[in-house]
Amino acid sequence: MSIETAAVKPAQAGNGWEPNILAFCCNWCSYAGADLAGVSRFQYPPTVKILRIMCSSRVEPAFILKALKEGADGVLVAGCHIGDCHYIDGNKNAEIRINNTKKALVKLGLDKRLRLEWISASEGLRFSEVIKDFTEEIKKLGENPVKHKIEPQIPSRASEGRRHVCSDGIRGFPLPKGNRDADERRFNASANKSAVNVQGSE
Ligand code: FES
Repeated sequence: MSIETAAVKPAQAGNGWEPNILAFCCNWCSYAGADLAGVSRFQYPPTVKILRIMCSSRVEPAFILKALKEGADGVLVAGCHIGDCHYIDGNKNAEIRINNTKKALVKLGLDKRLRLEWISASEGLRFSEVIKDFTEEIKKLGENPVKHKIEPQIPSRASEGRRHVCSDGIRGFPLPKGNRDADERRFNASANKSAVNVQGSE
């Protein structure tokens, strides 16, 4: 079954499936917003697992693709509002990076499973609403049809923005022949590094 033809099954009532959402929350705003939601007892579905990062710009495309490949039905990246990033332009860079990743995910039919939101430390209610809304959206999309089934095409940091193939599983992004070996080596290094970083930040 190719990625393009993978059938997306909408969630069916009573089948027991619940979305599995991974949320990357920046330490300074969104994570504090999530904390406030908990302290304030704002209700939201238990569909989200939160991973604290220092800034939304820390999220590499490799993290997102790895999450989608290994079981997430949706990925949320949440950071400070524009102008409030503790690293000045981190969230602006994150916005560019996430938009580029979304464009790449269109090819896989996964773009709606990635969302970027700005949530401040005082927006506990907004955090809960974002989780509720994203959960409903993922329920409509159904279970991620490609999890556990594909080798990800992960743009390495050095070549981010270029279209290329990183594994032999999918042929969506043609790579000039001579560059493939070098690109695959970069992919493997990037994926391994990403896995270590994700595990290390848990
Ligand atoms: S520190 Fe929050 S987005 Fe950069």
